[in-house]
Amino acid sequence: MGELRNAGIISMASAVPDKVLTNADLEKIVDTSDEWIRNMTGVRERRIASEGEGCSDYAVKAARKALDKAGLEPKDIDLIIVGTFTGDQQLPSTACLVQNALGCVGTPAFDIAAACSGFVYALSVANSFIRLGTYNRILVIGADILTAVTNWTDRGTCVLFGDGAGAAVVGPVEPGYGLLAFDLGADGTGVDALRIPAGGSKMPITHENLDEHANKIVMQGREVFKFAVKVQSEAIDRVLRQVDMTPEDIDMVVPHAANIRIIDSAVNRFGLPRDKFFTNLEKYGNTSAASIPLGLDEAVELGLVKKDDTVVVVGFGGGLTWAASLMKWAY
Ligand code: ACO
Repeated sequence: MGELRNAGIISMASAVPDKVLTNADLEKIVDTSDEWIRNMTGVRERRIASEGEGCSDYAVKAARKALDKAGLEPKDIDLIIVGTFTGDQQLPSTACLVQNALGCVGTPAFDIAAACSGFVYALSVANSFIRLGTYNRILVIGADILTAVTNWTDRGTCVLFGDGAGAAVVGPVEPGYGLLAFDLGADGTGVDALRIPAGGSKMPITHENLDEHANKIVMQGREVFKFAVKVQSEAIDRVLRQVDMTPEDIDMVVPHAANIRIIDSAVNRFGLPRDKFFTNLEKYGNTSAASIPLGLDEAVELGLVKKDDTVVVVGFGGGLTWAASLMKWAY
């Protein structure tokens, strides 16, 4: 085998619905308050898809923008990977819907199911293919329409979620740049902490379980919170160790946007300045697999992430899963 190549993100883009749902709007739907939501989660508003829109609509929008920024055409893409658990349909994959919309028949396409860790899991797969030389340009998308699986009668979850998509083109980069470390993991003992009980093969949808909202997200918030605080810091530690770096070497962390208190736990744990953590949680809520690319795209657009920067992304979610990557930003 020849020399392994370095793989990195060569363009980033995102897409969110225009429709805004504020905390004040939620006060009219469930027994909650703007103050509780802001204090307990950091979220002020979120974007929500309109009826008839699906995950692929936003995935395609983000993908087209990412291709434009990279100066590429859909035919230049060798593989499409979509991290999502809210695909348009159970069959086919959302990646195939994206491929069809982009018009690049023949390009392999598949989804990855790792919930909020999906984008970073997908990045790790793209990294391996590029490093080995199997493919040259891979479209990695994180997209979720969480409002489609939100139980609007459950105030413990419905205030958290939003919709969106982010896309990255991953390709070969100069030695020393790009995706330098990964830490992926799963703890299946936490399968019950975050789930959608009905709609799969174990519990097909029935009139009865629909009435009980069993086709919507059920979450043990406290359990997920504890898990998130723990694995978020551990995963950052592990990617740093892989490349012999210390927290002070990090220019920017873009964490999964689930709860500002979870992000703050890492700020405190590593003793880094608050502005070394970028999040747009307050505008978008938790958009699952979309949240890290939504954050990265905005940070790049604002000039807060630029060439030569050491960037860490870290996510966690249903599974329970986690995933972190450390990159030297390549453009
Ligand atoms: N408005 C007002 N009060 C509320 C609301 C609300 N929206 N939600 C819950 N409460 C109340 C509860 O009823 C409870 O009241 P009680 O003390 O009278 O019983 C009180 O607030 C505390 O509730 P807890 O659920 O114990 O609060 P907690 O401190 O755990 O915060 C939260 C809840 C914000 C959901 C937190 O647990 C959390 O963020 N968990 C992590 C969620 C997460 O990160 N998920 C990520 C993965 S998502 C994915 O993969 C799709």
